[in-house]
Amino acid sequence: MANDASRSGTFKIGGEITVNRLGFGAMRITGPGIWDEPQDRPEAVRTLKRLPELGVNFIDTADSYGPETSENLICEALYPYKQLLIATKGGLVRTGPDNWVPLARPEYLRQCVALSLRRLKVERIDLWQLHRIDPKTPREEQFGVIQEMQKQGLIRHVGLSEVSVKEIEAARKFFPVATVQNRYNLIDRSSEEVLDYCAKHTIGFIPWYPLAAGELAKPGAVLDSVARKLNATPSQIALAWVLKRSPVMLPIPGTGKVKHLEENVAAVSIMLSDEDFHALDEAGRNASKQAA
Ligand SMILES: NC(=O)c1ccc[n+]([C@@H]2O[C@H](COP(=O)([O-])OP(=O)(O)OC[C@H]3O[C@@H](n4cnc5c(N)ncnc54)[C@H](OP(=O)(O)O)[C@@H]3O)[C@@H](O)[C@H]2O)c1
Repeated sequence: MANDASRSGTFKIGGEITVNRLGFGAMRITGPGIWDEPQDRPEAVRTLKRLPELGVNFIDTADSYGPETSENLICEALYPYKQLLIATKGGLVRTGPDNWVPLARPEYLRQCVALSLRRLKVERIDLWQLHRIDPKTPREEQFGVIQEMQKQGLIRHVGLSEVSVKEIEAARKFFPVATVQNRYNLIDRSSEEVLDYCAKHTIGFIPWYPLAAGELAKPGAVLDSVARKLNATPSQIALAWVLKRSPVMLPIPGTGKVKHLEENVAAVSIMLSDEDFHALDEAGRNASKQAA
């Protein structure tokens, strides 16, 4: 029980699928530029297999991670999924390493879902997220086809990614929005308004980049003194802080290394005092303002 994600508390996705709040982001089990196979494939598989042992039952992936590599590895390491929620996404085309192009024409989104179902070997995707709203396709067409796929039972719950409050409200006319996945961490607070909206409507908020891609794991950042005081690493404090920020918060730190995974899950045991939480909050807001 010492290192168990269940200590992060639970959240019901779409009001019905219970997950432990600390999840896992499966973007980093791919090669450089989120392209092709990971450099250390056996370690990536070991990392995935360690997840259920550590009580992590919420895994975030996307068809575009690799592309295909992340979904394929998840299936290879964890299928049949025992009480695991595998959330995937579609709507971004890959033209090479580090290149991501939004594409959400209805026929393409149908293909995304059909191929994710095949790769993950499931009949229905428990949480499917629109990776980006495509600026070149009418919004009603994108939301309309998602609504149809949900009615057809291909998707159980729908999530959005990188959206504003207005966009969430527009989407809610087509389907219930179960989760929102926006960039958010202690020093990147541009989605505060969206987070508050999600908390008000019990929509899960999935902060991607919770460690600022490792920046917050480095010594010398705002987290240092609290980390030293609590005998923890800066990345653990960054995770403990987002977990305390809101009960709808579902962080998904990403790694391809067992050691880092174990360290990240151990963050759930850190109890930040209100005083430390507020001091970090203020330091993070100031850092966020300076960066803006
Ligand atoms: N919706 C979107 O548009 C979107 C965009 C980006 C990401 N995401 C999702 O969000 C997840 C998290 O985002 P992210 O992976 O970009 O950022 P992140 O979780 O903030 O940081 C991941 C980076 O930090 C390093 N790291 C992880 N744990 C560490 C530890 N304990 N100590 C030191 N370094 C550590 C990892 O390297 P190692 O592999 O070496 O551990 C990796 O380079 C992704 O996996 C993906 O599922 C979504």
